[in-house]
Amino acid sequence: MPVTVVVGTQWGDEGKGKITDLLSDSADLVMRYQGGNNAGHTVVVGKERFALTLIPSGVLSPQVTPVIGNGCVVDPAVLLEEMAMLRSRGVDTSRLRISGNAHLIMPYHRKLDAAIERYLGRQQIGTTKRGIGPAYQDKFSRHGIRLQDLFDPKIFTQKLETALKNKNKLLVKIYNQLEMLADPIIDEYLHYADELRPYVADTSLLIWEAINEGKQVILEGAQGTLLDIDHGTYPFVTSSSPTAGGATIGAGIGPKSIDRVLGVAKAYISRVGSGPFPTELQDEIGDKMVAIGGEYGTVTGRRRRCGWLDMVALRYAVRVNGLTDIALTKLDVLSHFDKIRVCVGYDALGERHEEFPRQQRTLYKCQPVYEEFPGWNEDISSVRQFKDLPKEARQYIQYIEEHTGIGVSIISVGPSRSATLFRD
Ligand code: IMP
Repeated sequence: MPVTVVVGTQWGDEGKGKITDLLSDSADLVMRYQGGNNAGHTVVVGKERFALTLIPSGVLSPQVTPVIGNGCVVDPAVLLEEMAMLRSRGVDTSRLRISGNAHLIMPYHRKLDAAIERYLGRQQIGTTKRGIGPAYQDKFSRHGIRLQDLFDPKIFTQKLETALKNKNKLLVKIYNQLEMLADPIIDEYLHYADELRPYVADTSLLIWEAINEGKQVILEGAQGTLLDIDHGTYPFVTSSSPTAGGATIGAGIGPKSIDRVLGVAKAYISRVGSGPFPTELQDEIGDKMVAIGGEYGTVTGRRRRCGWLDMVALRYAVRVNGLTDIALTKLDVLSHFDKIRVCVGYDALGERHEEFPRQQRTLYKCQPVYEEFPGWNEDISSVRQFKDLPKEARQYIQYIEEHTGIGVSIISVGPSRSATLFRD
């Protein structure tokens, strides 16, 4: 498939990094289309584990051009650090390309992100405090500073000084913070300009050319459908559009260019940060999922909230993304449970819901309705063929296919590249 979008179907942390890395083997260009260093992608290659936040997972495949698209927000210090980390481990980063239209995360964005969260108190979103929301806010209010601005010191200084006047009022008068000075920020960021110059490109043109040459392109989403600013559990969402539609805007291509939309779903479900989560397990089963699944955030190290697979949410993800197929990850984690549950509907306010509720008020009241499956209670981490999976595991997958109407084309049974089953 020439152009594939890889999208999270849950609240992020579905294992998109591993899936993108696998598909990258036969890809020519892999582009991140939204988000910033709020995303954590863990990719295991042989004995090595790479934790990436901003650079697309495709960087680990030597023939791939990894690209950071215009829909992303870039913290230059983090980007350069990540590049240096990869280089120090023998990964070539010279092919990386970054859109000059991507917006910069500035130091005041990080400071505001943390200050706003404190101010919200119990209503806080539980952001990653990386400045993502404030950076997107500036983008849409048209006060943002883009990567291309770094290469014109006069314009950069002008934009920064204008932004800072406004930010300092907010920081000092509303959030009780110290004022930030322009000069150290100018020095710091203009220094990044020299380092980043070779990587900046017209990435929309780059992807257009790749598509026209029949190359294999992957558009890698960060976070997940339920964290989407429009389609997620607003306001407990991120500030961009992880859903497949966001891929066209964040990459700069038209929707007709997309051939495949692969939804990545964990065999159970997790969430970090605040917000409604109907199948959350606040008991020893949830604790067991955290322990066996290693459910701690790649970026912030926070413990993830865990629960049973939610088919209402998964069917919603199929719909809003136009998914063509599913990659089911971490199936091996469920090997440790005698009984496995799947949420097939919600009961809320006297009604049964089979579609994901659009009203936040309803979502908070949702009580999951479960179907129960027998577990398989055996190690499946070395299985490589669907037919060799225990009957109960096959039934679980077939159930997902029947109730979503699409196929599960990839099954992951462990963190390494080889711990994967491909189906036609
Ligand atoms: P922000 O993206 O840092 O503004 O955080 C907004 C919400 O999205 C919070 O609930 C975060 O925990 C969540 N979030 C952001 N990035 C990720 C991710 O990569 N995985 C899971 N949750 C995320």
